[in-house]
Amino acid sequence: VAKVTPQTLLQSKQARTPITALTAYDYPTARLVDEAGIDLLLVGDSLGMAVLGYDNTLSVTMEDMLHHARAVRRGTRRAMLVVDMPFGSYQVSVEETLRNALRFVKEAGSEAVKLEGGASQASRVRALTEAEIPVVGHIGLTPQSLYRMGGYRVQGRSEAAAAQLRDDALALEDAGAIALVLEGIPRELAEQITGLLTIPTIGIGAGPECDGQILVFHDLFSLSFTKQAKFVRSFGDVRELMEQGLQSFRDAVTGRSFPNDAESYHMPSGVSLAVES
Ligand code: KIV
Ligand code: NA
Repeated sequence: VAKVTPQTLLQSKQARTPITALTAYDYPTARLVDEAGIDLLLVGDSLGMAVLGYDNTLSVTMEDMLHHARAVRRGTRRAMLVVDMPFGSYQVSVEETLRNALRFVKEAGSEAVKLEGGASQASRVRALTEAEIPVVGHIGLTPQSLYRMGGYRVQGRSEAAAAQLRDDALALEDAGAIALVLEGIPRELAEQITGLLTIPTIGIGAGPECDGQILVFHDLFSLSFTKQAKFVRSFGDVRELMEQGLQSFRDAVTGRSFPNDAESYHMPSGVSLAVES
């Protein structure tokens, strides 16, 4: 199977073949997503909420991301592996941004990094690109901007805000970004930005005209314990399956039907357990 690269994603856009992307946070989810033929696998900082039980993504650390990215790396062969730069790892300086991104490449085998923000992040994106680290941008509803946005709200709904997002998208492309995640913006604006850019857009809550779509793995299978956004679709109620399985296990143990004899080991014949007095 041919490895997915930035060039593959660009070709998909040009051929109008939708790009598929999902998050993964550990070895089994990476295996499943990769073997299903999903193009891009993101170790998102949604890790904080989906897996670690944090309230939001702001407290996710470099060590959290590295730990999970290494597990995902071991389960990924075909998909392009992208790791999110967590809040605080790229805000201080270009130098710290480079140092942290290099850790994802060298210590976790990341093939690209993703960071949130528009034109204000262009210098970071350019520096990473010059350091041979491909960058995926992320604009619109950027969850690390929670305090500034005052909540998770759809972005780009006024003419001025839409114009700003168009400028952000073009600035990121100009800085060398290989793709852009568009999150939580009107479908019409996402379609317009997708048409303006040479690089592919990957939408989440940004309508069907993006060059690709991404969702959080746990949202796909009803395994999230947080309130679900309008753009989430469940592709299978794995939670219900797990709840049923857990009840069955509990019943089998308390009812003494598990384990049965076939699930037990036996002493070899001729070996006595008789205790000498
Ligand atoms: O952290 C994440 O999961 C993301 C995607 C939803 C784009 O950034
Ligand atoms: Na993220």
